[in-house]
Amino acid sequence: MADKCICVKDFEILAAKRLDKNALDYYKSGATDEQTLKENCTAFKSWRFQPQVLRDVLNVNMESSVLGSKIAFPICIAPTAMNKMASHDGEIDSAKAANSLSTGFVLSSWATSSIEEITTNVPDVIRWFQLYVYKDKTVTENLVRRAERNGYRALIVTVDTPLLGKRYQDTRNKFALPSNLTLKNFENETTKEDGFPKGVKSARESGLAEYVASLIDPSLSWEDIDWLKTITDLPIIVKGILTAEMALEAVDHNIAGILVSNHGARQLDGVLPTINALPQVVKAVDGRCEVYLDGGIRNGGDVAKAIALGAKAVFVGRPILWGLACDGKRGAQRVLEILRDEFGVTMKLLGVTSIVELQSVHDLVIHESRILSRL
Ligand code: FNR
Repeated sequence: MADKCICVKDFEILAAKRLDKNALDYYKSGATDEQTLKENCTAFKSWRFQPQVLRDVLNVNMESSVLGSKIAFPICIAPTAMNKMASHDGEIDSAKAANSLSTGFVLSSWATSSIEEITTNVPDVIRWFQLYVYKDKTVTENLVRRAERNGYRALIVTVDTPLLGKRYQDTRNKFALPSNLTLKNFENETTKEDGFPKGVKSARESGLAEYVASLIDPSLSWEDIDWLKTITDLPIIVKGILTAEMALEAVDHNIAGILVSNHGARQLDGVLPTINALPQVVKAVDGRCEVYLDGGIRNGGDVAKAIALGAKAVFVGRPILWGLACDGKRGAQRVLEILRDEFGVTMKLLGVTSIVELQSVHDLVIHESRILSRL
């Protein structure tokens, strides 16, 4: 069946049939009314291409880089928690998929495979570690040290989650991890960081919401980011910035990169879809750090729009989970291949042959409101 999937939507439909309700709802949900969840995808449609023709597009080069790490095409895997609800090997499958296509993978703090297991099983994958800052700073520091020791090339610090957004369906389901799985990064901790409720229905509401409330630091501030910089030489990317003002603060704090993200619309509902937030961040940063985007990428045209508007690379979350649920590593790899190939076709039809060209040709991507206002 997975062999018949020719686009990300096909994988999504098939995955919905394969996953149980606890996992499917957790993966697909957004916060509260899910306004931003829908808009993350639909907003791409209002950005239009103004293609060039009669350009030689025989050879196209999709190579890009993230903080100096070369990637074959600018589509990487976003950190998503608990991949083993989707496939037997979970995050290891995801990392293998990224590695097989020479792109990058981000491991979530809340993965069901550990920092070390990724390194052992997929030693060559370009990898970054997504860090949640725990109230207990020794727990946080421990994660950082393990990421350093295991070849992770940057910390992607999630800054939009001082507490968990309200996700109605997880509350209804009393979302919990199946009893055979654990948050692997905390398996050997003697503290309660692996205290994530297991076995469906053990939590009072969403098990994850309870976990975050008890352990994740709601007082997270720039002071903590500055503290992280004192304890590690790993570059820091902040994940979850959506405005020019916050981007300028990040630049003031000498951050290496900004990931424009609304957490897949799972935190504050009503924020801008990421593609609409991207231009103000790119403008404010003005080349002083790298900028990336995630949220709502479902085809290669979406990728081209984000890159043309200034993102160095994009990250995809749910599409990889759908790939895993359909066919494990092969499914995740197929999803990446489909996005890569669609992106290549889009570049050619736009009349560009490199990422630099895609980003430098004037108004190759323009918001439709601007086109109409010219009439
Ligand atoms: C996420 N995301 C996320 N982000 C993060 O920083 N740490 C995490 O553990 C998770 N976990 C997680 C689980 C699931 C099921 C989803 C869907 C998302 C957010 C993720 O990194 C990314 O921002 C979004 O997934 C991007 O949106 P799309 O591609 O899913 O539309």
